[in-house]
Amino acid sequence: MKNLSALYDRNLSEEIVIVRVDLNINNKTLRVSGPNLRVTSIIPTIKFLTKRGAKVVLVSHRGRPAGVTNNQRPITDNIKEFTLKPFAKILGGLLKKDVSFIPHDTKEYRLFSDASAEKIKKASKGSVFLLENMRFFAGEEKNDPAVVRPLAELGTFYVNDAFAVSHRKNASVVAITKLLPSCAGLLLEKEVFHMDEAINNHKHPFVVILGGAKMTDKMGLIKRFIGKADYFLAGGGVANTFFAADGLPIGDSIYESHMIPVAKKIMKTNKVIMPMDVAIFERKIVDNGPGTTDEWVEIIKNAKTIIWNGPVGVIENKKFAKGSVGIAQAIAKSKAFSVVGGGETALAFTGVPLKKNTFLSTGGGAMLEYLSGIKLPGIEALREKKGKGKKK
Ligand code: 3PG
Repeated sequence: MKNLSALYDRNLSEEIVIVRVDLNINNKTLRVSGPNLRVTSIIPTIKFLTKRGAKVVLVSHRGRPAGVTNNQRPITDNIKEFTLKPFAKILGGLLKKDVSFIPHDTKEYRLFSDASAEKIKKASKGSVFLLENMRFFAGEEKNDPAVVRPLAELGTFYVNDAFAVSHRKNASVVAITKLLPSCAGLLLEKEVFHMDEAINNHKHPFVVILGGAKMTDKMGLIKRFIGKADYFLAGGGVANTFFAADGLPIGDSIYESHMIPVAKKIMKTNKVIMPMDVAIFERKIVDNGPGTTDEWVEIIKNAKTIIWNGPVGVIENKKFAKGSVGIAQAIAKSKAFSVVGGGETALAFTGVPLKKNTFLSTGGGAMLEYLSGIKLPGIEALREKKGKGKKK
């Protein structure tokens, strides 16, 4: 796979670079969390390109807009929830320069108007643009090359800096790599490096921490690491299924009844550590209890490699984030090589100073799939390419 970092000595002032990023952050998370990891993590790639004179066109999806019926018709009725417009200001603030928002051409039903294309072409070196949500076009999720052809005609090369959506066979992730010289951005390169390290070079004690709602989502990870990890610390909905499998009462907490036989089998390995105490709200388990945090902090202290995916409580509510924050603080202090991701897990590190041995992944599903050994279409598409070359 060709990496953007290999172009460090190039003058890119003749280039218009299409950069796929993942700004799939909902309004609620955007409001509560301050600068979001997915936003801050793409800044190095944008700066790398603009410092070398390139014009950058950022492309992303946001949410799953309903009612998109064909390639020709961008949807406008649910635009408030899914528009990428607010990110132009946020990115502008972080980059300390103007980021121009490029709306879809809703009159002609096109990705962008001729006027916008001209504006980009005539812009000064180092200008940054942000295109409206790709998923307002149904062809995006169908990996239809027709949707991204206008981008391929406008741009001179393509950078995938969106690890978090690389598990989706979407047009701006996969099809576009067939139309433009392509490479991995700095963030994608970093994500792949850290995932590969955890897979191939983990040291013992090797601890896997599993949270989030469903055990089903974590099965790939459990299967891949059950023979390798020393401990599985189970929290959140995953723990509830283990509790149920163990015959313990869980009130009205979410769990997966169909996973009970699997959970029983996994428990026989004696590697699973369930919470010894929990916080309860309205008959539901909402967080780890303090005893559990103390016990897990000790395990984390001695670990040499840690993978953590999914919060162990209702992290959006500060009152139920204590278990996740306790884990985050322990990881930040530990000397272990740690890879953390999944949903809102990174929120637990808000205000927690990090050392280089802790990597916060922007990936949720993508992280789980990559660690499970599934080949991600977005990354495979880059691996099949020879890298940036002349546009045909
Ligand atoms: C994510 O948030 O995991 C990615 O942006 C992918 O989003 P999706 O699950 O809607 O495809």
